[in-house]
Amino acid sequence: MTTTKQTALKELPSDLRRDRLPQHVAVIMDGNGRWATRRGLPRSVGHRQGVETLKQLLRCCDDWGIQALTAYAFSTENWTRPLEEVEFLMTLFERVLRQELDEMVREDVRIRFVGRLTDLPKNLQSMIENAMSATRHNQGIQFTIAKNYGGRQELVQACQAIAQKVQQGDLNTADIDEAVVAEHLYTAGTCDPDLLIRTSGEMRLSNFLLWQTAYAELYIADTLWPDFDRAEFHRALFSYQQRDRRFGGLKR
Ligand code: FPP
Repeated sequence: MTTTKQTALKELPSDLRRDRLPQHVAVIMDGNGRWATRRGLPRSVGHRQGVETLKQLLRCCDDWGIQALTAYAFSTENWTRPLEEVEFLMTLFERVLRQELDEMVREDVRIRFVGRLTDLPKNLQSMIENAMSATRHNQGIQFTIAKNYGGRQELVQACQAIAQKVQQGDLNTADIDEAVVAEHLYTAGTCDPDLLIRTSGEMRLSNFLLWQTAYAELYIADTLWPDFDRAEFHRALFSYQQRDRRFGGLKR
């Protein structure tokens, strides 16, 4: 993975160690709807506020030298929500891409979308394609948005792609190993998340990055996503830095 430009790094809070920062943070942004409902507002307001929180988090990761941020923005199961909410979320995506792309290009952010993108509205697909190609050569933080993403569906499509190669004689069954599987996931080429944050107190993976989070450290915040600010992220990083990551081995 490309290294985040060193010159732009901002000072870390004094209780965090730069050499122990996660390279890749993933977030399950839960609680937008509840945040709005508690204020007597429509759920859409919570989603809009959620976008602001995500923008702040991206900036914070970039400031502090974290190389990759992946956000779970729409799951393969989210289609079962009321049509009005699904349509709102699709339109919100288009609006955010339209409004933020120029700044992300300027800020050197590399945008990537993962998921079954071919099921998305055509207009959104072309905006996504455009955002990825406009930022493809950027050298800064990699910002991955999981859209129409499901971990099981990702594994199924990887199995299909691998089986096809075997059938065509391009791959031997005996040569299928973890690296081959990883290369056929949507996330190919990106290191696995070191830290997975979920907000709103729920303790589930909800079909997110099932393969990639095998050794991720989990951090559950009770805060609802729109309230997950820089101080909350600081707390998550502090907790992460206290962990003893052994990857199945013994204490180092
Ligand atoms: C979960 O809260 C949130 C979502 C399903 C959508 C998250 C999407 C965004 C924050 C927009 C991101 C946009 C871009 C362009 C990246 P919930 O609705 O499940 O909340 P609840 O559990 O309180 O109902």
